[in-house]
Amino acid sequence: MTPSTSSAITLNINGEKYLLPVDHRTTLLDALREHLDLTGSKKGCDQGQCGACTVLVDGRRALSCLQLAVAAEGRVITTIEGVADGDRLHPVQQAFLDLDGFQCGYCTPGQICSAIAVIEEHAAGWPSAATDDLRPDAGVPALGAEEIRERMSGNLCRCGAYVSIVQAVARAAEAAGSEDKEAVA
Ligand code: FES
Ligand code: FES
Repeated sequence: MTPSTSSAITLNINGEKYLLPVDHRTTLLDALREHLDLTGSKKGCDQGQCGACTVLVDGRRALSCLQLAVAAEGRVITTIEGVADGDRLHPVQQAFLDLDGFQCGYCTPGQICSAIAVIEEHAAGWPSAATDDLRPDAGVPALGAEEIRERMSGNLCRCGAYVSIVQAVARAAEAAGSEDKEAVA
């Protein structure tokens, strides 16, 4: 008997459940764009090098062009279409808008999804390759331009909007930090 090459899977995306039949070779990116009409995630290189397809899987950034849709079943997937709170933009979206963190906008959904995770990773104390002092008691340095550039280095922008992107991520991180302080106070 020839093994089946497709399955019906259920994907949990932006709080909604989607049942869809997919070929086992379908990437998560193609499932989003071609099967579910969620075209915010972009296909730049289709080989894990540009970050345009970045989404959040269980809260962590993932390149959806490198992940099979069948492997995403049971995971919590958030795409750029799901980061806002109704009509209220996510603080990272708002910062990109306020500081012109884009030109053509093609890389922007991936940049924003990455930035959301970067801010959370930094707040959780994860070091990056730009972190000088890795001793356990050293703490993580502030999310300055160098840290942001390193942590966002998987997301390419062919328009070269990097200066504004870094400023937008810094602004959103600052806003998230003050919200945390207010929550603690
Ligand atoms: S399209 Fe996925 S990394 Fe470029
Ligand atoms: S804004 Fe055009 S590729 Fe980044």
